[in-house]
Parts: sequence; structure tokens; C-alpha cells
Amino acid sequence: MTAATVERWVVSPEQTVRGHFGVPGDKSVSHRALMLGGLADGVTTIEGFLESEDCLATLKALRSLGVRIERTDAEVRVHGVGIEGLKGVDQPLDMGNAGTAMRLFMGLLAPQNFDSILVGDQSLMRRPMERAAAPLRLMGARIETRDGKPPVVIRGTPALRAIDFVMPMASAQVKSAVMLAALRANGVTEVTEPAPTRDHTERMLEGFGIELQRDHATVRIRGGQRLRATHVTVPGDFSSAAFFLVAGCIANRGSIELRGVGMNPTRTGLLEILRAMGADITVSNLATRGPEPTADLLVRPSTLRGIEVPVELVPLAIDEFPVFFIAAACAEGPSLLRGAEELRVKESDRLATMSAGLTALGVSHRLLADGMRLEGRTNAGPVFQAGRIDSHGDHRIAMAFAVASLQAAGEIEILDTANAATSFPGFAALARECGLGIRQGGGA
Ligand code: S3P
Repeated sequence: MTAATVERWVVSPEQTVRGHFGVPGDKSVSHRALMLGGLADGVTTIEGFLESEDCLATLKALRSLGVRIERTDAEVRVHGVGIEGLKGVDQPLDMGNAGTAMRLFMGLLAPQNFDSILVGDQSLMRRPMERAAAPLRLMGARIETRDGKPPVVIRGTPALRAIDFVMPMASAQVKSAVMLAALRANGVTEVTEPAPTRDHTERMLEGFGIELQRDHATVRIRGGQRLRATHVTVPGDFSSAAFFLVAGCIANRGSIELRGVGMNPTRTGLLEILRAMGADITVSNLATRGPEPTADLLVRPSTLRGIEVPVELVPLAIDEFPVFFIAAACAEGPSLLRGAEELRVKESDRLATMSAGLTALGVSHRLLADGMRLEGRTNAGPVFQAGRIDSHGDHRIAMAFAVASLQAAGEIEILDTANAATSFPGFAALARECGLGIRQGGGA
């Protein structure tokens, strides 16, 4: 067994939060910067790269495909090999816990002149990969999955053809996989999404000199274009900031200021949701660092009201629902989330894992096939009882329940927490500085 199965946190209740800090770099942007940098002509420099396990899985895979990558404290330098320059490897490429890495690599490796096999950890080996394989096959790619899941076997097929693809689900990973393959396809590929999803790939491709046409829900990309190396500034990850935004709202005292947080509107659905719930969050210093906007966020204790989450915000807050449920449990009045069945196929089944954890802490709620109904707080006392949570190795579940400690009656023990490092290395230390009573426990 790996360390990931035994690390745990014990979090005792605290009342006050404090601090001014930046959160680590954006995970989605870091993956893409490495991949596009690897395919570009010239040396790409990445500032603010997220040194998390997920992004390091992408980095390691690119190195084994022949891309030289240097890391210094200040930046990551990617010596691009050009669109046709990757080299095959005999070993399977290990994507760890990273669904983004696996699905984007499917698009990147499908048009190569060598074969590849993609594998991952226990959680990733259970996740659906046909959603990316199916459109790539329409382009002529030869890809096999096992019962729809990894290992993913890719028989490299250099001459792909462009397609017009209407995505059946709102997924930035699927959209991005098709766009990456489209760079090597004959003709103009068109991808249409059913609802807006994060557009980091589109923004970054333009930064690498690729011409795209974006028209409402559709993006068009002509094959045969080359990427020009560039400098990428990675903003702070809004999804990591989200834990502190909710912590600041539900704490009884204090405030938290988060600096340089990514404010791409396709990512900030939780900010809109929290504000509609009555959160006291001030946005300042809006700036544009490269293609991604950033801002500083100041959050203070707030009286939250329950909310019916507007369905169009679901893809724009898709990674934030674990911590949203914590906020909703602390709000006055009921909250309802529907149309979020995608949560069932994340690093864990996030609806089921959160429901089990909320039950363990005595929070009344109803689990739905595509969401959850929460009753909201019933009195002025603590919202969560003391208890033990199994995060099932899901980083965002572990971090969400750590935040719950700010409204807990006693200690919350959270099992299987090592995977916080997949997106947020150093979370426990930062949370402690910020006022949470979090300690690392040994094996349970
Ligand atoms: C991501 C897209 C989302 C998100 C994931 C990162 C990306 O997944 O949940 O954490 O970087 O493109 P889907 O595209 O499957 O919704």
C-alpha cells in the first residue's frame, strides 16, 4: 500500500481565521503549459508552475517522451521538440491521479507515429475514458480502453481527419483532447460544447500563436499549425482558493486575503454562488497576467443563505462542490444542487463520498442521483458533530472537511489525505497558518 492510503488529518475546532497569502499555481493551466511547451518550437518558460503530483505526472511523462524540462525555483523551462518531435517509449506512461493528464495526453498522443499506453493510480483506473476516446476515433485515431476505463492503448496514427463534434457532456478535458488532436488533423475541426467549460486550452493555444475561431459554444481549429514557444504566467488556482473562501465565510471571526487568484470566468462559478448566498467577498486588483485574469480576494465571516444553484453555474464550479456543500450546511435555509451527475466520475464519486461524510458529522441532507439537497443550519450552535470522514483518497473531499472544522463541535478526523498533494501541496501547513486546528496524523 502507498502512503496515500494511510495519512490522515485530525482537525480541532477553531473560531478565527487570518492571513494574507497567495495560493499555489493553477493545476489546469500548469498541465497545459507543459504540454503545449513540449509541442512548441523553442523554449517555453513557465512562471508560477504548480509543483503538485498531478502536474509532476505530466512533467515526467513529457520527459520520457523526449522533452527536456529544467526546473529552477523561479521557473520551469520546457525545451519544445516541435509538433512532430515526440519520441515513443516502451513503458506505460503513468498519469498518477490525474484525469486531466490522461485525457489530454490521449489527444496529444493519438496522432503520433508511435504507440503509447496510459495508466494511473487506483482511482484513475476506475474513471471513464471513452468520453475522450470516442471523438478521437471519429478523427481516425486507434484507441482502446478496457471496459471504457484505463489502461488506454493508443496506436499512433499520424494522419487524423478533422471532425465536427458536438460534445454530449460539458467537459473541458474532452474539448481539450479533441483540440490537441486537431492540431495534427487534415482540415478544420469544430468542437461545440453543451454549456461553457473552462477555456484555458483555447486561451493558451492563442498564446502559442495558434489561430482559433471562437464563436459562442463552438471553437474551430485548423490542423497543420505550429506552436511558437512563449512565456506562461500561471495564476493562483481558484479551486485551491475556494477552500479559504468558504473558510473565511463560515469562520466566526477574522478575515483572509488571497492574492493573485485566477479569475477566468469559466472557473469562478463558486464566487457567484457564494455571493448569491450573501458572502462578504471583496475583489480588488483585477489584472491580466498573460491570457488569464487574476485578482485579490478578501473574505470575511458572513451570514450565508441557502441557494438553489443555477444549473448554468455547475460546469463553472465543477471542482468546488465538495466545499460548497460545507458552505450550504452552514447556511440558513435549504440548498439544492441538481444537474451535477459529473461529480460521480471525479477522483471519487463526490456526491456519495460527501454524503457519507456529511452523515458522519450529523448533517441532514438528501443525496440525489445528480446532486444533493441540504437543509441548512438549524440553530446558532456548531453545524458539524465530531466524527471520522473517509476521503477515499480524494483531495478535494479531504480539504473540504478540514474547512468544516470551523463550525464543528469537536475533532474531525479525515482519513486518506495524502492526495491533497495532487493539487495543493502544503495545504495542511497553510491551513494551520490561517487558523485551522489541523494536525497530521500517522497511519490510522
Ligand atoms: C479540468 C476539467 C474538469 C475538472 C478537472 C480539470 C481540466 O474536468 O473537473 O479537475 O483541466 O480541463 P471535466 O473536463 O471532466 O469536467
